[in-house]
Amino acid sequence: MEVENKKTTIKTKMHNPNQNVKVAKIGVILTEPDDWTASAFLKNIEKREAKALPINLSTLNASVSTSDFLIFDADLKDLELDAILVRDVGISFALEQISFKFDLLRQFENSNIPVLNSPTAIQNAANKFFSFYLFKLAHLPVPHTMVTSELEVALKTIEKFGSAVVKPIFGSQGKGIIKLESAQPESELASKLAALLKERGVLYLQEFVPNPGRDIRVFVVGGEALSAIYRVPRSGSFVSNLSQGATPVKCELTEEMEELAISATKAVGADFAGVDLIEGEEGLFLLEVNATPSGKGIKLACGIDVTERIVELLFERLEE
Ligand SMILES: Nc1ncnc2c1ncn2[C@@H]1O[C@H](COP(=O)(O)OP(=O)(O)O)[C@@H](O)[C@H]1O
Ligand SMILES: [Mg+2]
Repeated sequence: MEVENKKTTIKTKMHNPNQNVKVAKIGVILTEPDDWTASAFLKNIEKREAKALPINLSTLNASVSTSDFLIFDADLKDLELDAILVRDVGISFALEQISFKFDLLRQFENSNIPVLNSPTAIQNAANKFFSFYLFKLAHLPVPHTMVTSELEVALKTIEKFGSAVVKPIFGSQGKGIIKLESAQPESELASKLAALLKERGVLYLQEFVPNPGRDIRVFVVGGEALSAIYRVPRSGSFVSNLSQGATPVKCELTEEMEELAISATKAVGADFAGVDLIEGEEGLFLLEVNATPSGKGIKLACGIDVTERIVELLFERLEE
């Protein structure tokens, strides 16, 4: 119930209703305060009589000297947080900015306060190459994937796969994903791939998994699969992200879905995740683990607010 942190000893009010105790201050890392998941995190923290502080990492400053290390906000106030819940770190194409944001999270973690998900888990999951390596180590089924900077290798890979998807290694919300067919003229394939290579410097090619026109998003929190949705792409699209216009439909969890989603979440080291699965002809394949997932689709289709359980898990960590 008591949490030793560098600055102070706090007690969570929930378990000490009669005492005059310091209320836990939880930083919620976000970029869009109106986002459903961000608002639900803030609301569920406040419900537990803790203080929820929305924080956009872009607004934080750091001062380092021989005697001091300080992180402060735009009002020059020291943050003095007791825990951190990450909704989203924000997309940035500036390497130094994204690196600074993760380093801020790492130093919070280092100062002995719970950070959910951990920066390492978020980075593992966001990286579609490294996460596949971790899935392979954990013996989890993934579609055959090739990463190359050689145009010739890419062309041969597409010939082998027949149908392939090309996606960014650091991508989300179905952005930048295209499907290529080996039946297309080689000159057309070569020019598309060359353009992507120029933009990204590396190509991430994956065999297209023939599927029943939907994928599956399983929500895992604290080692438990809470719920799942099918995501049905809008007509004419194969990309089933809700942000691309797909529709969420309630999905009954099977044991295979649960096991795969829980193992994948564990493989990247996440405490909570939205795991994307796809139904291949011979069983399920893992597409990715999202360690900063939206809870909105599951709430809409199943009526389950996963953010409640995530906040509960955060308080369990705070009290450990
Ligand atoms: N190998 C694949 N075979 C079939 N469909 C795929 C494949 N990879 C991705 N998709 C479709 O594209 C969507 C987005 O892919 P995903 O790898 O989850 O990237 P993102 O991070 O952008 O969500 C998936 O949810 C799925 O509908
Ligand atoms: Mg996805």
